[in-house]
Amino acid sequence: MTTPIPQPPGVPFLGNVNTIDRDLPIKSFELLTQQYGEIFQLNIFGARRIIINSYKLQAEMSDEKRFIKNISANLKQVRAAASDGLFTAFPDEPNWGKAHRLLMPCFGTAAIFGMYDGMMDIIDQLVTKWERFGPHEDIDPAADFTRLTLDAIALCSMSYRLNSFYREEPHPFAIAMTDFLLESGRRSARNALVQAIMTQTNAKYEADIATMGQLVSSILEDHKIRPPAKPDLVTVMLNGVDKETREKLPEENIRANLLTFLIAGHETTSGMLTFVVYYLLKNPEAMRKLRDEIDTKIGGRRVTTKDVNQLPYLLAVMREAMRLGPTAPARSVTPIHDDAVVTGNNGQYLLHKDEPCILVTFNVHRDPKVWGDDVLEFKPERMLDGKFEALPPNAWQPFGFGLRGCIGRPFAWQEAQLALISIFQRFDLVMRDPTYELEIKQTLTIKPHNFYVRAIPRTDRPRMLLNPSSAPIAAPGEPAQIASDVSPANGLKPMYVFYGSNTGNSESFAQRIVSAAPTHGFAATLSTLDMAAEHLPKDGPVLILTASFEGLPADNAKHFVEWAENVKAADAFAGIKYGVFGCGNTDWVSTYQRVPKLIDDALEARGAIRLVDRGVGDAASAEFFDAFDKWEEMVWAKLSTEYGAVKSEQAVGLEIKTVSSSVVRAELLRQRDMGFGTVIENKVLTAEGHPPKMHIELALPEGFTYRAGDYLAILPTNPERTVRRAMARLNLDSDAEIEISSTAPTHFPTGKPVSVFNLLSGYVELQQPATQRDLEALIAAAPETAQAALKDLVANYADKVFAPRLSVLDVLEEQPSIPLTLGPLLHMLPAMRIRQYSISSSPLWNPTHATLTLAVVDAPARSGRTEPYLGVASTYLASLRGGDKVQCAVRPSAAAFHPPTDPGVPLVMICAGSGLAPMRGFLQERAEQKRAGRAVAASLLFFGCRDPRGDFLYGDAELKEWAELGVVDVRPAFSRCVGESAGCRYVHDRIGHDKAEVVAAYDAGAKFFVCGSGRILQGVKETIVELVKEVRGISDEVEAQKLLNHIMQGRFATDIFE
Ligand SMILES: Cc1cc2nc3c(=O)[nH]c(=O)nc-3n(C[C@H](O)[C@H](O)[C@H](O)COP(=O)(O)OP(=O)(O)OC[C@H]3O[C@@H](n4cnc5c(N)ncnc54)[C@H](O)[C@@H]3O)c2cc1C
Ligand code: HEM
Ligand SMILES: Cc1cc2nc3c(=O)[nH]c(=O)nc-3n(C[C@H](O)[C@H](O)[C@H](O)COP(=O)(O)O)c2cc1C
Repeated sequence: MTTPIPQPPGVPFLGNVNTIDRDLPIKSFELLTQQYGEIFQLNIFGARRIIINSYKLQAEMSDEKRFIKNISANLKQVRAAASDGLFTAFPDEPNWGKAHRLLMPCFGTAAIFGMYDGMMDIIDQLVTKWERFGPHEDIDPAADFTRLTLDAIALCSMSYRLNSFYREEPHPFAIAMTDFLLESGRRSARNALVQAIMTQTNAKYEADIATMGQLVSSILEDHKIRPPAKPDLVTVMLNGVDKETREKLPEENIRANLLTFLIAGHETTSGMLTFVVYYLLKNPEAMRKLRDEIDTKIGGRRVTTKDVNQLPYLLAVMREAMRLGPTAPARSVTPIHDDAVVTGNNGQYLLHKDEPCILVTFNVHRDPKVWGDDVLEFKPERMLDGKFEALPPNAWQPFGFGLRGCIGRPFAWQEAQLALISIFQRFDLVMRDPTYELEIKQTLTIKPHNFYVRAIPRTDRPRMLLNPSSAPIAAPGEPAQIASDVSPANGLKPMYVFYGSNTGNSESFAQRIVSAAPTHGFAATLSTLDMAAEHLPKDGPVLILTASFEGLPADNAKHFVEWAENVKAADAFAGIKYGVFGCGNTDWVSTYQRVPKLIDDALEARGAIRLVDRGVGDAASAEFFDAFDKWEEMVWAKLSTEYGAVKSEQAVGLEIKTVSSSVVRAELLRQRDMGFGTVIENKVLTAEGHPPKMHIELALPEGFTYRAGDYLAILPTNPERTVRRAMARLNLDSDAEIEISSTAPTHFPTGKPVSVFNLLSGYVELQQPATQRDLEALIAAAPETAQAALKDLVANYADKVFAPRLSVLDVLEEQPSIPLTLGPLLHMLPAMRIRQYSISSSPLWNPTHATLTLAVVDAPARSGRTEPYLGVASTYLASLRGGDKVQCAVRPSAAAFHPPTDPGVPLVMICAGSGLAPMRGFLQERAEQKRAGRAVAASLLFFGCRDPRGDFLYGDAELKEWAELGVVDVRPAFSRCVGESAGCRYVHDRIGHDKAEVVAAYDAGAKFFVCGSGRILQGVKETIVELVKEVRGISDEVEAQKLLNHIMQGRFATDIFE
């Protein structure tokens, strides 16, 4: 008996045509695989297509006696240009055999070695371009790698120069080809009648084919007029005679093959290079190991063919990048005989002769049965030390299989190695936007999209001369490139401020220093820490402000920390003078201030001179801002003695002039990775009289993707009422506009008119507690009558300012006699921060929409003031209506905080209030999987709220539905209706009450997730320790804790809404 193959629901006539994303089919395949598993079928206009996603099935179908290459609907369209060229030839077309036999020797090892000069010629052009760009220019690696690989295949195999690096735009061939491949893909999913009436599209298609054909003609003509000194692929095709048939290749087939090589020979390799760079930049440890390998084995000399395949770590990096980013993401085969039965993990499936079966390499490379639970992580180590060779047969198939496997593999492999070595010898690459998350663009191939880097020339060793046209060569040991944008005007001295920040505190402190620098005689450069990796300047003081996240660096400090921790030379940092300020939170007991401390120690240990003691800011304490203020004072005092900088009273940071209110208001984006999402729905989940919780559905900005458990970062605006309060206190009318100019880098829009309302709405935090320094500044400006009250605030800062969160605005309102104007106020206010929210949906529900489950902060102010306290972002989000636009970005959560790939693994989820958000996403995912017929384990959800009729979020809706589906067993704890939750008030009480089920779930292999406040986590941990004591018969607390840590390793993940 065979198992039926599941199919997603479709519609009459079209079938599943709309199930698949037109622009990014691979994403649809990935999500459908999560939902339906190892095999599913699609109905495309009545024709069945089988989609294969597991290793087990792929391995069985990699058998040329039973399965043969199928020219898929997509490739049939590509035949419009490439006809019976090698890639698109039907299996029985005679020209395939002739061309295959003639051309195979052209791709042997010796032949490929012979192409070294051509490859290096083009690689040098790329490197030269990047050298000339310098460290501040944005580079689109996919575009430059396309130039590289297209020019290399044309030069090495056809002796023809395309000179793509000398053009602003891509080569016309590349443009025509991209459009042609895109349209071919679309045609394969289009009805013939519709196609016929799309006259403009059809004309463009023909024109693209003609453009590509013209290049082929030029290459052929050139060859006939000036045959190359060294025979190449074209020579072989023009003159070669097939040994088997004794025939030459027909001219039409030569043209088809030339086009095939131009297409197949560059698009895939440029994608591979871009994936390698992306994954390396996302994984600083791998980047460092690769650099070390290149530095040790090759150093400063020019790479040669002898180095090819001799760098094991480089090979592992390339193999791992091709596992996660197979640029040819799928191939199509068909059974040779009828009634082929294949055996998967969950059953036996019947396939029919000539039926297209798409082997989705992208998914098979993510099969946890081969690669383990950490399939989505980039780990070159899994390809090292014999592990690649020990993989089960056909587990790694980015180059296809068998006779129809890739003929150009050795070419691509050598070219990529030479290029990567040459690049990393000369540059430290950094992402333009360190929070960039992979977006994929798909034509026939896939590659990273909207991905930009900067190339900082390495100054840690002499540069190599590339070719005579190379950029002027810098002397070893010259000042690091990072210094180049500092122009210390007016006798100001250079200084450097670097930050590592996820949520904006460290960045905001760094900004304060930079703004104040001119008044202390310095011109400061502000940058992320990653920009300073390998490039810490020595010609001025270096200040570092940075945070820790679960003991790890912020997204924009990962490369720096990796470098600082691993640098070898004892005097690596000699000549650097520095100071570090750490933002941290004592709630993270064991990793409090880990990263700032590590950086401070590492710099000193390798010869840098510490100018001031490390500053320590605890975000959980009243002294957070004060600690920074004190440290900053210490810094300026030390810098003035150490550098003899003169304090200048004139050099004020911000200059403001009032301009006409008719000037159009400036609109500036503050975070680079943010796009505009659109609100679809915003509804209240709670009953009247309960603190409001909202459910917000957003259509994500185009191209954004997410996983269940990820966050949405929101750039909010201040509540209108708070802004109006500030305007009123400053006595400004609502239309007032100003123009800001600044002598230092600032987060304010400068040099253009901006309305004060917009400025106060979007650029500053108005409700943060006033700092001691703010209060001192107010005292300095205040009249005698206000002095006593202000001094009282300073004297009792923790109780009267920090705990009740008394803001500068609150103080100004309380003391109307203080004559503060906008400029000094802007100086005091920190920059607006993003807020993160756990996404409460799953992409299996809708990959382009995400929902949030939000607690609105709206309560009587702790300060006792009459105005209620309105949280910035939650008030902003709560006010949105359908159609409103929101600046947002998806940010990944910790690797452990995602549902396990196997839906058969049960979950134990513990949360309260809006902490339900990620759990809702997990359950929604599992519900979709269950409906698709997959075996889904039932999970336990411990949920805390007040009352079943007031704030039991989704209790009567999705949670009920999913419980009925058998996906979840909800165990509530109603703090105000304990009678309805088995007498349990809080979630930890409920866990204690239901301990038998918790232990059973643990024994069944469950993973545990806790989400909400730090308080909840504490309560849950204590209850679980008690449980361990009871179950294992241990009385000692410490021993039980140790055992708990041990048995929960890899099975307990937390997400704390700080
Ligand atoms: C990883 C992560 C995931 C998160 N996910 C979610 C989620 O899914 N859903 C969700 O709702 N939230 C979530 N949060 C919390 C969220 O990011 C915001 O912190 C929260 O919405 C408050 O932001 P706000 O801008 O509205 O308030 P803010 O303006 O930032 O004000 C909050 C501050 O005001 C203080 N405060 C609160 N009430 C008062 C009062 N009455 N008087 C004086 N001060 C007060 C708080 O202690 C806090 O310090 C998450 C946080 C993190 C770190
Ligand atoms: C990283 C780079 C590359 C990848 C990932 C790749 C991948 C593939 C895959 C998966 C196939 C099989 C397709 C199928 O089964 O339908 C294939 C075939 C092919 N590739 Fe590549 N390729 C790469 C580079 C190249 C290069 C550089 C060339 C040319 C120099 C090339 C030329 C071809 C040709 C001609 C075929 C068809 C072979 C045949 O059917 O006889 N490829 N490639
Ligand atoms: C998920 C998360 C994990 C954190 N982990 C740590 C930690 O391990 N050690 C620490 O000192 N602080 C930790 N913190 C606190 C942050 O470092 C602190 O909020 C800091 O001010 C953030 O700085 P930033 O705004 O510049 O990113 C963590 C905060 C969050 C939200």
